[in-house]
Amino acid sequence: MEKDWYKRMCFYQIWIRSFYDGNGDGIGDLYGVYEKLSYIKSLGVDGIWFSPLYPSPNADYGYDISDYRNIHPDYGNLTIFRKVLSHAHELGLKVIMDLVVNHTSDEHPWFIESKKSRDNEYSDYYIWRDGKHGKLPNNWDSLFEGKAWEYVPERDQYYLHIFAKKQPDLNMDNPKVRQEVKDIMRFWLDMGVDGFREDVITFISKKDGLPNGLSFIPIANGMPHYKDGPHIHEYLEEFRQVCDEYDCFQLGEGPMTTTKSALSYMAGESKTLDLMFHFDHMMADCLFTEYIQRPFRLKRLKKAFSKWQHALAGKAWNTLYLENHDHPRIISRYGSEEYIRESGTMLAVCYLFQQGTPFIYQGQEIGMTNIRLKSIDQYIDVSSKNNYHTFHVKDSIEKRMERIHASSRDSSRTPMQWDDTENAGFTTGKPWFYVNPNYVDINVKREEQEADSILNFYRKCLAFRKQSDVALWGNYREYYKHSGKIYMYEREWQGNYLLVICSFAKHPVSFRFPKSEREKDWKLELCNYQDTSVEEGIREMKLREYEARVYSSVN
Ligand code: NOJ
Repeated sequence: MEKDWYKRMCFYQIWIRSFYDGNGDGIGDLYGVYEKLSYIKSLGVDGIWFSPLYPSPNADYGYDISDYRNIHPDYGNLTIFRKVLSHAHELGLKVIMDLVVNHTSDEHPWFIESKKSRDNEYSDYYIWRDGKHGKLPNNWDSLFEGKAWEYVPERDQYYLHIFAKKQPDLNMDNPKVRQEVKDIMRFWLDMGVDGFREDVITFISKKDGLPNGLSFIPIANGMPHYKDGPHIHEYLEEFRQVCDEYDCFQLGEGPMTTTKSALSYMAGESKTLDLMFHFDHMMADCLFTEYIQRPFRLKRLKKAFSKWQHALAGKAWNTLYLENHDHPRIISRYGSEEYIRESGTMLAVCYLFQQGTPFIYQGQEIGMTNIRLKSIDQYIDVSSKNNYHTFHVKDSIEKRMERIHASSRDSSRTPMQWDDTENAGFTTGKPWFYVNPNYVDINVKREEQEADSILNFYRKCLAFRKQSDVALWGNYREYYKHSGKIYMYEREWQGNYLLVICSFAKHPVSFRFPKSEREKDWKLELCNYQDTSVEEGIREMKLREYEARVYSSVN
């Protein structure tokens, strides 16, 4: 098996605004990251993914970039970035940047020029269309805000924005735009970064003629015409060539991607992406977006996990994650806020021992949970606000707020909880956003001191994973497929085995070790309960609330 460096790694994602404030202005920054690099290293991760650090008006918190070659003044400057990069490298941590090129900010100089007229150097940098008989150019909805078109009187034309109005889509069919992207990549690669996480990269090539979408599909009606578009592979091939000049890797975000489509990017000699983020396993309690909720079903989660493990086996490499800045906190969704420690540690086990490169999002390693703000006015995320004001408007305010509590991206964007002092030790100033009041109990300082904390359990899992060839390379086989309470899978590599058993139940459940040709001698390697004596020498046993166990068997 080909063993590229990223396959052995685990990444930590930083959403900088809420990570750690190093200069007391209430906003997380690179000075703060610098101070916390040894903490990150201590987790046992091998790299950092930075969500956008670039100058941005923050209509979508950094995903609306106004300068690709600089650092947002809130977060520092290029000098401190270089310092962070070099210290990260000294510690053996890779650093990957977010590359957001489906769209820019409407305050990017390219757009400011582009909207001035139909015939300037930048007129074709974006997707401009005339209206049709006094109507919009097509029926596409924006994923974030109303329709996907905005009128600009100077050009008497509309521009396309699949996301917010302040995020106009770039015209990737224009070779000059692709050249800009490649130059931006080189700028950061020359500085020493190790790769990119490429934002909604599967959306960058739009179908010729921009045909109407299916009108009965809300929000995503245009998606069949901009996802995996006609020239996507050619364009990604161009970007790949840049990466190949460096020892760099590319991780593409693929919203709604299928295994088949993902393999078209990641498999074979001519692969353009090394890894992809898919969303299948994030829909065990929702449909398409967390705002369209349904009750959590373990079977859905297991089906998604197993589907990707099998489909990519031997052909491509999985990306494993449960949280990032786009999804509410996982304990509040798939675990239980009554059993934070138990479910937080169990959730760690359930994904960290699958085959793939794991990502851990800031705060996940201490079990941070969703925030519940009183009024919609306290929320700041553009998509949460839009959902609230667009859907289910006839429901009571309480019901609509419940949906926001369960779905808002703001829940994963509250300041990191470092200790139990004011503002959770995140800042000495006034925090830019609400701190989750549970910081008095859930914080890094406390968990450092408790041997069985979620934080220390993540460390144990990562340390074990790193030295286990079975965990890194092994085949995957699922047991208890039809159980709505237990997720059990086995990994096998060269006759050695790992058995991972997770209970998603709030009450004890029994399980039996799987039957096999060769009776295996299972040795308990990890358990999220301190007292493990109950398991000695028996083939059938009970799992306690949200209990997770990892066993090994060597030949
Ligand atoms: C995906 C990013 O992760 C998300 O935060 C952002 O809002 C959209 N892409 C648009 O850039």
